[in-house]
Amino acid sequence: MPETQDALWYKNAVFYQVHVRAFYDSNGDGVGDFQGLAQKLDYLRDLGINAIWLMPFFPSPLRDDGYDIADYRSVHPLYGTLQDFKNFLAAAHERQLRVVMEMVLNHTSDQHAWFQESRSSRDNPRRNWYVWSETDTPYRSARIIFIDTEMSNWAWDPISKEHYWHRFFSHQPDLNYDNPAVREEMWDVMKFWLDMGVDGFRLDAVPYLIEREGTSCENLPETHIVIKELRAKLDREYPGRMLLAEANQWPADLRPYFGTGDEFHMAFHFPLMPRMFMGLKLEDRKPITEILTQTPEIPASCQWGLFLRNHDELTLEMVTDMERDYMYDSYARDKTMRLNLGIRRRLAPLLEHDRRRIELMNGMLMSLPGTPIIYYGDEIGMGDNVNLGDRNGVRTPMQWNGGWNGGFSNADPESLYSPLIQNPVYGYQAVNVLSQKRSEHSLLSWMQHMISLRRSTPLFGSGSIEFLYPKNHRVLAYVRQQGDQAILVVNNLSSSAQAVELDLRRYKGKILIEMFGGNLFPRIGDLPYLLTMGPYQFYWFKLRRI
Ligand code: NOJ
Repeated sequence: MPETQDALWYKNAVFYQVHVRAFYDSNGDGVGDFQGLAQKLDYLRDLGINAIWLMPFFPSPLRDDGYDIADYRSVHPLYGTLQDFKNFLAAAHERQLRVVMEMVLNHTSDQHAWFQESRSSRDNPRRNWYVWSETDTPYRSARIIFIDTEMSNWAWDPISKEHYWHRFFSHQPDLNYDNPAVREEMWDVMKFWLDMGVDGFRLDAVPYLIEREGTSCENLPETHIVIKELRAKLDREYPGRMLLAEANQWPADLRPYFGTGDEFHMAFHFPLMPRMFMGLKLEDRKPITEILTQTPEIPASCQWGLFLRNHDELTLEMVTDMERDYMYDSYARDKTMRLNLGIRRRLAPLLEHDRRRIELMNGMLMSLPGTPIIYYGDEIGMGDNVNLGDRNGVRTPMQWNGGWNGGFSNADPESLYSPLIQNPVYGYQAVNVLSQKRSEHSLLSWMQHMISLRRSTPLFGSGSIEFLYPKNHRVLAYVRQQGDQAILVVNNLSSSAQAVELDLRRYKGKILIEMFGGNLFPRIGDLPYLLTMGPYQFYWFKLRRI
């Protein structure tokens, strides 16, 4: 475990989300592995992040990239052995990097031994581990999530001749959390990894654990009971470890996942993310201020997980129909870029390779209330490949250098798990770690600088936020405050230069210190504080009385 025993470590962390298969292939078989990831830990330490979120690495038929787990207590042979994982974990901890791993509680693969048993006959002792029904009519009010693939949340099992319940792909049967044996087994699985020393879990798909007739089968009180049970055990037996919720819900439905500080430590802020993109396109702060003012307070020990992109489509579930149309129109004109209710693109292409917009969005990511999570490759501005199916276009190999396979693998290019990005704008010859390391002005160097500034400013992780509402609505301005420390953040969401007058009278007498260069700006007086800003420019100022 990293040196600091601080139980609230996740509040001032910067996370890096990575898929072991995509990072570095140490044995030349075309697939990234734990030995490879371990070799790249110095890169992550130098980037300045201090927590890694690992996507699922368990044995799996890989029909949902590992979110279809066939054995919870082992490592997929393509990624290495359990010993390789342990070595990786020790090497990460040596570098003060925490490791949060994926835990898919809601469903398994249909290849999991439990499901094989469960479907083998209606009186099998494990029958009740999954959700079975003679008809496909129950729970009609539950929505379908993978609307591009699935027609129903029920699938017919020809072996035992009943239907089974699945919220995602039909090859991912849902476990039955009404069954205490399932709850116990899953805690046992979690203990297996906690005993090895992992620092926490991202719990996948938590809203869907329990089903009840006549409801949406999401966010049910019984689901919260399951979570509280897990959390109590975690606190009792493994203090200092962390649970992060994947609950793609509206703020009011998300809030209960923190409970009174007795459910999740962290939850992704799903509704904020598309609104950052929306605000940028509209050149208007409203989508962002609106959602954040609607976001309820959370207990002091809890934290929002903020992100711009991840391994899935940019989900547009938590927006209105009109907002979704606007997002599609603005960011996914080409219909191949759309998937389910979302957009399957990476950050840099979404922002049209515009360094200023990439910086602005990352600046907001790091200064809004929460813990920033960076998706691998976005720190160098990697591109995507919409020709690959499903969400695979945003999961291509990491681009380390301009050489063979972008430095990802020694294998023949045709045996890689996925082709690299090779186009002239985002291809590995143009966008890679090695070349960006050589330039102080590269995106990578800039990200490194930002991350270090973010980590040395814990106020961003735990301070309050208050929005200023200057007349110029193209400018998003807020004051982050904790104790007697205050930071003013001003973002120009517009593609053209803007002047803004801020009402800072509450801070009269203080001066502004610009945090990137350390330069002093004029003292705040009685008049509105005037700032001029270039296109997509942003400022972070410390407010000091000197
Ligand atoms: C959410 C994960 O982020 C996604 O990648 C996966 O397909 C579904 N859960 C199903 O596990």
